[in-house]
Amino acid sequence: MPKVVVVSGANGLELGVSVAKAINGEFIMIEQKIFPDGELYIRLSDPTRMRDSIAIIVNTLFPEQNKSWIETLLLIDSVKEAGAEHVIGVIPYIAYSRQDKVFLPGEPVSIRALLKALKVSGMDYLLTVDIHNPVSLKEFGDHAKNVMISDLLAKEALKYTKTPLVLAPDKGALERARVAAEAIGAEFDYLIKYRDKTTGEVKLEPKEISVKNKDVIIIDDIISTGGTIALAAKESLRSGARSVIVAVSHALLIGNALEKIRNAGVQCLIASNSVKVSKDGFINIVDISRRLADETMEIIKRL
Ligand code: R5P
Repeated sequence: MPKVVVVSGANGLELGVSVAKAINGEFIMIEQKIFPDGELYIRLSDPTRMRDSIAIIVNTLFPEQNKSWIETLLLIDSVKEAGAEHVIGVIPYIAYSRQDKVFLPGEPVSIRALLKALKVSGMDYLLTVDIHNPVSLKEFGDHAKNVMISDLLAKEALKYTKTPLVLAPDKGALERARVAAEAIGAEFDYLIKYRDKTTGEVKLEPKEISVKNKDVIIIDDIISTGGTIALAAKESLRSGARSVIVAVSHALLIGNALEKIRNAGVQCLIASNSVKVSKDGFINIVDISRRLADETMEIIKRL
């Protein structure tokens, strides 16, 4: 088997080192600088080691989404140029994945445009984590895998609950809730919006299962501004939930998102290290590097 060499973008450094260690791969560093006009420059520190290798590019595309996208494309080109035989991308958080369709005429399907760019640049396989809409990966056919981690998040959440009920904030997140609930033997449901016929008030309630006296685990792919989760948490508590724990794959936590979530009455937040989250007593981080390594090995075995 060709040797396995791991490189990473700036955001993917810690995960890249962990994955390299777990799969017994070499890790090689990248030099980076920004030219005076703002363009990015990268260079493999030891390009000769890349010849005839399986190159694993680990990057995660937050923060600085635009720069990270360009960096990833440059990494693909540099490993190909240095002679890598296969290129596997391990990109736990893929920015732009929420623009997965045309919502208004004139818009692009951003995720399609960017995944095409990865493929055309020479990425043979793509491994990602809990992408907003797995259908977006069709650009890569059977050379892409969306790794679900809701089971890991749910197992962590279980430490804080007695009578768990897993809730997806909307129907689109139902599969995540199912995977999470199965892992801990809990029930699951999703929230729907409805308007009270007498008061006209808009409420969010689970489609079928009552939250009364339950420890609700709200599971989602991403927290950006925190609005979705804060609303789902408030509504669950209003409907009689005993407690609310939030578990998300990608905690971007923009602006005062964390404050909104705390103020909504959430007991604690569980997030993966797909993107870097600052340590905080309220946040519990689940390390996904082992799972990324295992999934990467599965791809390597199939090459
Ligand atoms: C929406 O479909 C997503 O799954 C997330 O619920 C949403 O993007 C979170 O955004 P925010 O934190 O800004 O409400």
